[in-house]
Amino acid sequence: MSQATPKAHQQAGNLWSSRMAFILAAVGSAVGLGNIWKFPYITGENGGGAFVLVYLACIAIVGIPVLIAEVMIGRRGGQSPVASMRELTETEGTRKGWRIIGWNGIIASFLVLSFYSVIGGWALAYVGKAASGMFTGADADAIGGAFGGMLASTGDLLLWHSVFMIIVVLIVGRGIRSGMEKAINMLMPLLFVLLFIMVGYATTTGKFGEAVNFMFSPDFSKLTTEGVLTALGHAAFTLSIGIGVMMAYGSYLPQNVNITRTAITIAFMDTGVALLAGLAIFPLVFANGLEPGAGPGLIFVTLPLAFGQMTGGVIFGTLFFALLLVAAITSAISMLEPVVEWLEEHKGINRAKSAFFGGFAIWLVGVGTVLSFNVWAEVHPLAFIPFFEGKTVFDLLDFLVSNLMMPLGGLAIALFAGWAMKRQGLDQELGLQGGLYRAFMFVLRYLTPAGIAVVFIYNLL
Ligand code: PHE
Repeated sequence: MSQATPKAHQQAGNLWSSRMAFILAAVGSAVGLGNIWKFPYITGENGGGAFVLVYLACIAIVGIPVLIAEVMIGRRGGQSPVASMRELTETEGTRKGWRIIGWNGIIASFLVLSFYSVIGGWALAYVGKAASGMFTGADADAIGGAFGGMLASTGDLLLWHSVFMIIVVLIVGRGIRSGMEKAINMLMPLLFVLLFIMVGYATTTGKFGEAVNFMFSPDFSKLTTEGVLTALGHAAFTLSIGIGVMMAYGSYLPQNVNITRTAITIAFMDTGVALLAGLAIFPLVFANGLEPGAGPGLIFVTLPLAFGQMTGGVIFGTLFFALLLVAAITSAISMLEPVVEWLEEHKGINRAKSAFFGGFAIWLVGVGTVLSFNVWAEVHPLAFIPFFEGKTVFDLLDFLVSNLMMPLGGLAIALFAGWAMKRQGLDQELGLQGGLYRAFMFVLRYLTPAGIAVVFIYNLL
């Protein structure tokens, strides 16, 4: 039976069991490597407070409006992003070209998971490394060497990438309620507990105040134009918007849930976790005389050094990487969902098989990322284009998804909801009245697109 009918999931009763279940799933998607790995290191690289302020502004101006629009489109279409967009271009009487939003979603979520899984595999590997006590008393060379050694080993990376994908496929294959909701209901509370333990520990380092200062007292002389662009790009990445993931999750959202309020809750929780992750990490960095601007290696190279020196470091190190792993899994399952939803509808294969075949294809593409860190480290496929010189397969995929497909997808979603959809649809899904409706439409039509356009153009230059 083909599911491709309007609000198919609503009719089949295949929905999140409650508003809370949706919030947890969406927060699980939003909270990921972006919050715990990327946010602290880009904050460190960009000098702290001023960057954090700009990032918060971007969440408000771009992140929340696109999140609302994307979930709204998802629920109104009620199917996979491709089918939902096809449906809506018909029922809203818009141009067919908008359907590209759906295809952009399926393709981008496919691609992003292919490399996200490899990094998720690092988290998996590091849970074991931390638990084995190998960081205890190790010096910077040994710890840097362990990280480098892992990247250099095709076999290790392949193994962890495979295990990570298998976990994701097993959860998604069991379906929205019995697979994803169950896993998420268990993993999210665990994530919050681990995070609070880490922040609690950070308050005992004596450098908590310094970290708060670093993150919250803005020094605008440290902010560059590039920093502003990084902040905006990250606001989209961290909220999982622009590539159909929130649209797919929205397609399982019961009709009586208030989208606006829910989206704002999700954005607050995601931002809260990013800030807490900063408050867990920077005190350790300062207490151990490490560099906040150490870059992507911040949590894999710098933090183990701190764990190796502190009392209880084996436990806290293991907890920390477990936290990272949990966050990565709940994001990864959301990336697989649009692909699986599409396979179920269009290829008529059942959910378990869709998850398996989709997951396998993604795993295969992920091998390209695995090799980018070792055998193909010197392979630069698009080196003939000056801008892409020196970019590995992984760099190219990351660039394509994070810098092109996500912001452009977000822009298209804002424009579609803001300009192309009929008022009736917006009213039925959002139920905003009077001034609130006008304010929201103003942001969605003008501010959000302008914000994204600026980043996008600068990114390209
Ligand atoms: N938001 C996730 C993170 O912060 C990443 C993500 C991007 C998830 C796009 C789904 C879709 O890690």
